[in-house]
Amino acid sequence: MPDNFPFEPLEVSRRLLVWYGRVGRDLPWRRTHDPYRIWLSEIMLQQTTVAAVIPYYERFLERFPTVEALALASLDDVITLWAGLGYYSRARNLHRAARQVVADFEGAFPDSLEGLTALPGIGRSTAGAILSIAFDTPAPILDGNVRRVLVRLFAWDQDPRSSRAEKQLWAWAEALTSKHHPHDYAQAIMDLGATVCLPRTPLCDDCPLLKLCRAAAEGLAGQLPVKRIAKPVPTRHQAALLICRDGRLLLRQRPPEGLLGGLWEFPLVDLAHNQDPAMIASRQLRDFGFSGALSLLGVIHHAYSHFKLELTVFVVSPESGSLVAENDMRWCDDAELASLPLHGSQLKAYALFPQKL
Ligand code: ADE
Ligand code: SF4
Repeated sequence: MPDNFPFEPLEVSRRLLVWYGRVGRDLPWRRTHDPYRIWLSEIMLQQTTVAAVIPYYERFLERFPTVEALALASLDDVITLWAGLGYYSRARNLHRAARQVVADFEGAFPDSLEGLTALPGIGRSTAGAILSIAFDTPAPILDGNVRRVLVRLFAWDQDPRSSRAEKQLWAWAEALTSKHHPHDYAQAIMDLGATVCLPRTPLCDDCPLLKLCRAAAEGLAGQLPVKRIAKPVPTRHQAALLICRDGRLLLRQRPPEGLLGGLWEFPLVDLAHNQDPAMIASRQLRDFGFSGALSLLGVIHHAYSHFKLELTVFVVSPESGSLVAENDMRWCDDAELASLPLHGSQLKAYALFPQKL
């Protein structure tokens, strides 16, 4: 047995493959070996759950069935299809990568680790997944799910994010990857993490690796991986103004660069600590050149990677005035609104809007 191995590595893939054959999930991207489709699924799944991804994946492929179709699309159209899925740099990288694959490789995805990781948005783990799943070439994967399984299997009780942990986990991932069935092995270990070796309450009794697992044997499964001391996530406060006029709502496009670049939103104002949302929103309304009474629609909460947003949503039908500055602004009816890429918090805000326009 290799160093650090409390069990025969082949035993892990053998058990996982049998388990996967029995209870593996039937997911849309598992009915294909098309590298384009596999790549798309892996990018969508990077920070998003299977359940949330499926409808986006299907709509995306209907619209862009090939990498050539995606490369020809405008970035706006790609972002529109991505709207609501979050982490929008993924959509921008996807579009750039598609253009590179078409321009540099005549539309054929590279089938090497170096070739894949040279494309925007593809790190070592995603490249490993694409190689394994699309090309049936053994390559290790270390996404969040696999990381948790390995930490527990080997009862790694130190910081799982240290560089030492990183090296060790990649070495384990590599040693366990099936040389003979990489396509199924990759999906199996990711499925195990997603459906059995769950973050809070691992279902060890249903786990094909129970007999091998050191964390389970030591009664540590639920405690591992050890938590980082969580930095408190700051909360930002904003107010949104749904300004309604002649059956249309006022929308604004964010600048192309930066957070949520290019996406659309209702006019927003930042609130400093303890500022009254209604007062600041009224001031913004006046600055736009309108007057009218605001009604509170509600407060929504939305989580981003580095902060939480508390958004107080107002609606107003101005009695008088006209819009002062129109840069990046547009009056939209229902149909136009539905066709614009609104980001997640704005979809929630719009859901509070009581009537159809
Ligand atoms: N998470 C990342 N890739 C996945 C895949 N191919 N199947 C299920 N979950 C995943
Ligand atoms: Fe995870 Fe439990 Fe299986 Fe170990 S036995 S891999 S902790 S589900």
